[in-house]
Amino acid sequence: MGVLIINGGFPKGGRTETLTRYISNEYRFDYIHINEANLPMLNGEEKQWQLPSVTSFIKKVQSSVGIILISPEYHGGMSGALKNTLDFLSREQLAHKPVALIATAGGGKGGINCLNNMRTVMRGFYANVIPKQLVIDPDCFHSETKQLLPEAKNLVHELIQEFEMYIKFLPTIDHTKKTKYS
Ligand SMILES: Cc1cc2nc3c(=O)[nH]c(=O)nc-3n(C[C@H](O)[C@H](O)[C@H](O)COP(=O)(O)O)c2cc1C
Repeated sequence: MGVLIINGGFPKGGRTETLTRYISNEYRFDYIHINEANLPMLNGEEKQWQLPSVTSFIKKVQSSVGIILISPEYHGGMSGALKNTLDFLSREQLAHKPVALIATAGGGKGGINCLNNMRTVMRGFYANVIPKQLVIDPDCFHSETKQLLPEAKNLVHELIQEFEMYIKFLPTIDHTKKTKYS
């Protein structure tokens, strides 16, 4: 499998979805919308990890060569639903994996806290979050067609180029293999 986009936004036809679809179509990346992943609210019960929706989600992340997280900024962080989704994962799927971050925001310089929040959480998985990151706000979209403007597409392209460079350089690590000391 190739790159997997995890879309942590909500409304159908919203800016987060428009952006996700654009990147997925333009670069031929797979994507998961967290609603469609159909994951439960994590409650700590062991049996949740046997649910088909959970095992299938984990497998998709595991087999990807890199992850793009796209989340709206909600009250200074990633969407709560995206955090719940990520809590089903572990280092086994994410350690050293290249991860790119994009926040959608309401304008007025919003979005940076969402990016920082996603970066901190990805650090907890030992993921390899690339330096370049992006905030996409309402000014990045055409007011009538609601599509991404060319300048925003360029910013996305620069991010994807850097992301693909890291994918090329980072060897895929098989965490199912035992280490020297285990
Ligand atoms: C509950 C909620 C909280 C929000 N909090 C913020 C925020 O802290 N900072 C910000 O820039 N935008 C905030 N917004 C605006 C969204 O991030 C913005 O509209 C984003 O583009 C949503 O994308 P969508 O069109 O996919 O829903 C908030 C929106 C909602 C619904």
